[in-house]
Amino acid sequence: QDVLQKYYAAMRQMETRLETLDQDLKLKRSRNPIHHIESRMKSVPSIFEKLERYGQATTIEAMEQYIMDIAGLRVIVSYVEDAYDILDYLEHQDDLEMVTVKDYIKEPKPNGYRSLHFIVKIPVFFLEGRKNIPVEIQIRTIAMDFWASLEHDLKYKSVHSIEGIDVGSELKECSEIIEGVEKR
Ligand code: GTP
Ligand code: MG
Repeated sequence: QDVLQKYYAAMRQMETRLETLDQDLKLKRSRNPIHHIESRMKSVPSIFEKLERYGQATTIEAMEQYIMDIAGLRVIVSYVEDAYDILDYLEHQDDLEMVTVKDYIKEPKPNGYRSLHFIVKIPVFFLEGRKNIPVEIQIRTIAMDFWASLEHDLKYKSVHSIEGIDVGSELKECSEIIEGVEKR
């Protein structure tokens, strides 16, 4: 509880940062890049499952060291450029530490998944002092989110094979069509 509440605090502060950027851009550049933000905390069973998958001990120490997506934010933007702009603004905030960036927009996953992912450490102050806590941020456009939501849904409904339909290649093709529409 003590450790997880720290991640929760980091997630809320990061969400406020993003909202502050959005408000400032609205005021000064008449831009409103963020459509909406979703947040979620990874459940304890999922944390355990991931540690086991990584071949790590199921301890608090291992969790803090290896699980970078305990706190997660998903930022839905209007245009592709907005995703890169937000990343750029955050990279210029000098108390934030960018840990990793995975650009699945430039290089989509083989299944067609597109999004800009990064892990950023944000300083949060507690009774015992300052702690830099990682938050996973996924930025994607409405179009990318639309595809990812359906793909996620289909994955768990296990409809990989319906009468001669290859769901995987259908999804991949849809991802390319959606990308084309978005560019247009
Ligand atoms: P995880 O073990 O899933 O956290 O993967 P990872 O640590 O290699 O990170 P990655 O950047 O690949 O993905 C992290 C998160 O992005 C996932 O938990 C999903 O929320 C999302 N994601 C990644 N790939 C896909 C995908 O193919 N489809 C959908 N719908 N979401 C995805
Ligand atoms: Mg994850």
